[in-house]
Amino acid sequence: MTRTLNRRRMLALMSASTAVAALPAIGRAQGSPTKGQDVLIVYLTRTRNTEALARLVQARTGGTLVALQPQQPYPQNYQAHVDQVVRENEQSLTPALRNPVDPAPYSTVFVGFPTWGMQLPPPVKSWLAQVKLSGKRVLPFNTHAGFGVGSGFETVQALCPNSTVLAGLSIEGGYEKRGQMLMLQGDRARRADEQVAQWLARHQIS
Ligand SMILES: Cc1cc2nc3c(=O)[nH]c(=O)nc-3n(C[C@H](O)[C@H](O)[C@H](O)COP(=O)(O)O)c2cc1C
Repeated sequence: MTRTLNRRRMLALMSASTAVAALPAIGRAQGSPTKGQDVLIVYLTRTRNTEALARLVQARTGGTLVALQPQQPYPQNYQAHVDQVVRENEQSLTPALRNPVDPAPYSTVFVGFPTWGMQLPPPVKSWLAQVKLSGKRVLPFNTHAGFGVGSGFETVQALCPNSTVLAGLSIEGGYEKRGQMLMLQGDRARRADEQVAQWLARHQIS
């Protein structure tokens, strides 16, 4: 058990960049033990807090880590970014993605996202709306600036009607508006890792 974990952690440290691995399809009944090659971790990030959380999940599951990227990057300027998201949400726009990763080979799919306007970010809505997650186990996770996940988890559930969507994990990340960028470091990263461990144990994922 310890050896497996150490190997997974080593692999996580070695994968400095995100990568999409083309893996064979594996038929796995829900509820049976999770294997690294059976796990996909998709996340969206701007200031890297959700990425930090995704990496903690990766270190404990050995899954494949993929950062979702909108085809048209969001503005660097924070307020311009917020304004664009408000417009997208008001008009129910779903931006095109540069890398719409195919979840077909995986049975367990983690979906990580920051809270944007108290909602699921539009690029994550895009991805969930265009891929097939039927029959898969979906675990959403989130970082926010102190106001919580908002409607994010409910929207994941609504966009995955034929999946088993398990209770999500939501953790306070940064607060760019106040100049707080990547905050899940040091002690906060260690506390987040404990929360990840408890969350995975609760869902019997090791
Ligand atoms: C466009 C935008 C909208 C945001 N809206 C909210 C919000 O409604 N509530 C909240 O708590 N945080 C909000 N935040 C803050 C992020 O959720 C928080 O900083 C998160 O940790 C960022 O994750 P990241 O570092 O992975 O990008 C917003 C950030 C951005 C860029």
